[in-house]
Amino acid sequence: MNYSQKISERLWNQPDKGERESRREETFIDDIVQKNHIERELLANLDGIKTVFDGGAGSGRFSILLAKNGCEVTHFDISQPMIDKAKELAEREGVLGRITFVKGALEDLSAYSDKSFDLVMSFDAPISYIYPNQEKVIGNLVRIAGRKIMISVSSRLGSLPYLANPLNKNQFILDENCGDPWVEWCVKNKSKMFEGFHFNRENAEKIWSNGLMGGEAEIEEYERGSTPWCITYTFLPDELKGILEGFGVQEVQLAGPGVYARTVPNEILVKIMKDPMQRRDFLDFCYRFDSNPYVCGMGKDNLFAKGVIR
Ligand SMILES: C[S@@+](CC[C@H](N)C(=O)[O-])C[C@H]1O[C@@H](n2cnc3c(N)ncnc32)[C@H](O)[C@@H]1O
Repeated sequence: MNYSQKISERLWNQPDKGERESRREETFIDDIVQKNHIERELLANLDGIKTVFDGGAGSGRFSILLAKNGCEVTHFDISQPMIDKAKELAEREGVLGRITFVKGALEDLSAYSDKSFDLVMSFDAPISYIYPNQEKVIGNLVRIAGRKIMISVSSRLGSLPYLANPLNKNQFILDENCGDPWVEWCVKNKSKMFEGFHFNRENAEKIWSNGLMGGEAEIEEYERGSTPWCITYTFLPDELKGILEGFGVQEVQLAGPGVYARTVPNEILVKIMKDPMQRRDFLDFCYRFDSNPYVCGMGKDNLFAKGVIR
């Protein structure tokens, strides 16, 4: 088994992962904006969709949404804590009977035959965590899709600005006193991150050319017995479009959820989110702006793609 899968297995199977993932939109504004974008795309594209495969479905943000909209969903994830949390939430929403939960790794989709599902989806970057198998896995996701595919992967152009802004997550904190351990960490370490920062051009050039966030350091950390973050492969827009088209996907359209919001300071974002009317208008506008293909590469973490299978 390669390191990406081993690292993902250890990371995502930490007991608190499901609970924390399910609270992302109560905690971080970038998650609100990005998930809102994907939700709109899904709800606008459900014509003729009865069966759905959600790869790396997490705590069920989108599998439960589609089950509530009448689809039969296969919720597929490498993490038992994620699946347990998703089951709890699906039961609460009354859709447990419409979701099949499968613990598995995207690296092996051999259990599914060609065109098994009307819609195949995979959001918030599971595909980027399976380096060096990302292209092969995209090929298999296309293979099991009958009508449509929608994915979001880590964006290279969107991720590179993090290298000049280690405080990027602080920009999106909804409430500093919410008690979330990640928020507490971001607040506590703000000045340390600022003072300790220096721009590493060599590192930025390296990621620009090979797309790889992490690698050797994560492998060493894993070997020492700790739980490193995933090795992440970041895609360029033309590259992702080319891979999908190479596997026969047609009418590929890209978007960059989070582009508009990343230009707005935290104090303003919080103000907007706390006023329901402004929040609704802002999310409408973000969706419109972030759907423009000229900004797609600058998606906050994600590069979104949808296409048609014939
Ligand atoms: C950031 S979460 C996204 C969850 C959900 N798709 C969403 O958008 O809310 C990434 C998910 O991918 C899953 N994952 C990571 N690597 C995987 C792999 N190799 N196979 C299957 N699932 C994987 C994780 O367990 C986690 O639930």
